[in-house]
Amino acid sequence: MASSRPSTAEPQHVLILAAGHGKRLKSSRIKLLHEVAGRPMVDYVLAAARRVGTGRRVVVLGHQADAVRQRLTGYGFRTVLQKQQLGTGHAVLQAAPLLARAGGSVLVLNGDLPGLHAATLQRFVSAHRRSGAGASLMTAEVADPTGYGRVLRDGDGRFQRIVEHVDASAAEREVREINAGIYCFSTGPLFRLLKRLRPRNRQKELYLPDVLALMCEEGLDVRAVIHLDAWEILGVNSRRDLAEASRLLNARRLETLMASGVTALDPDTIRVGPDVRIGRDVILSAGVHIEGATTIGRGTTVGPGCVLRDCRIGRDVTLLPYTVAAESIVGDGSRIGPFAHLRPGTVLARGVHVGNYVEVKKSSLGRGSKANHLSYLGDAVIGRGVNVGAGTITCNYDGERKHVTVIEDRAFIGSDTQLIAPVTIGRGAYVGTGTTVREAVPPGALAVSAGRQRNIEGWVAARKKRNAAPAKRAGG
Ligand code: UD1
Ligand code: CA
Repeated sequence: MASSRPSTAEPQHVLILAAGHGKRLKSSRIKLLHEVAGRPMVDYVLAAARRVGTGRRVVVLGHQADAVRQRLTGYGFRTVLQKQQLGTGHAVLQAAPLLARAGGSVLVLNGDLPGLHAATLQRFVSAHRRSGAGASLMTAEVADPTGYGRVLRDGDGRFQRIVEHVDASAAEREVREINAGIYCFSTGPLFRLLKRLRPRNRQKELYLPDVLALMCEEGLDVRAVIHLDAWEILGVNSRRDLAEASRLLNARRLETLMASGVTALDPDTIRVGPDVRIGRDVILSAGVHIEGATTIGRGTTVGPGCVLRDCRIGRDVTLLPYTVAAESIVGDGSRIGPFAHLRPGTVLARGVHVGNYVEVKKSSLGRGSKANHLSYLGDAVIGRGVNVGAGTITCNYDGERKHVTVIEDRAFIGSDTQLIAPVTIGRGAYVGTGTTVREAVPPGALAVSAGRQRNIEGWVAARKKRNAAPAKRAGG
């Protein structure tokens, strides 16, 4: 077998195929922009591929090219356009102007491989370069090979060719070794043989794997390397694959977190996004979803069903069940929930209590302040040691504009009060129960707005008598 051993000085290029639509998802959005475990699928392959290679980095774009291009910033990839999606071989051909005469070898990757590890690619590429083969492809033995291209070998186990699922005979479909869509080619033979591809198949496409068979015919060495972790090379084609890949990546993420000292009660029900950071001795209960750039400090307990997005949660915080929070900061030792809603712009200092059915929006609560029951606090600046009574509402919206409520340190707001903004409650002031506050309350004052209470003796009995009378008239 002919082999031209590439010197280590020869460039290693990377090419990612991202032009296809992904019809099997039945979506208006292209496949690679669908999210897997909180991130568009294309991001994973970009992140893995950026750690490989010394040469050119190219992505083939096609469907929704502009949207995919936006995901590429910061990765240092150049792009080429495949105007018509005539198959994976045709996609690679589009990169010929950039790669055909660039020498060395090229790692070609399908874009729909979210589980791929950078280390796997690095090992694959260095093994290929050491081998001097014309091409290497990664394969795997899978339980259900449906949809994948099957790897056909001769009687001696040598690679012969790939047959796509749709083109395969019943006997060929029995083969459980599949093509992963990860290849390393010597660029010279690749671009020479791509020109010889013909769309002689059920899909009338130019299949990249057919180049491998052409190489074999030419006597070039083609190495089919079996990868043992079949999950890692899961190619996402359907909504079912999407769910499977998300589950897999999430499980991996939780394994890492557990290894770093995080307790996950019922991990199958917990979702943690890729950019979330969680400290030691944090307890995540069942059904917790943590998204975006959320961070959680040491020793915090997150109760069942909490949903957190882009939050900074301090140390030793207790989030009681079903707390929902977004773009909020929670200070150390605070206690939130159950059923609390922290909306964007909430900033809670240390030791704050926000209790059940309390909604906070764009408001700050100073150290040790409490709002334990049934309140709406919006656009409020609340000092330290303040007690906000049950049913307190900041009336922040006049139908046109939002206004600020200021509650100074150690003020005490009685239950069922309305604070009509803009308004200020001075230091240590008291607001009596049921008060509608329309004007500033000076420090240390008591504000009351309800009139004197009046009791009407015997009113209940009198009403009963009154109500009984008409019934008699109607003849009962
Ligand atoms: C491909 C392989 C199959 C392999 C499987 C692994 C071919 C012909 N088949 O099948 O052997 O088992 O991957 O997951 O290659 N793309 C383009 N332009 C096109 C067509 C596709 O850029 O004209 C891109 C897609 O965006 C995608 C990748 O190529 O990122 C693979 O395409 P896909 O349709 O998913 O290929 P499979 O049918 O899964
Ligand atoms: Ca695929």
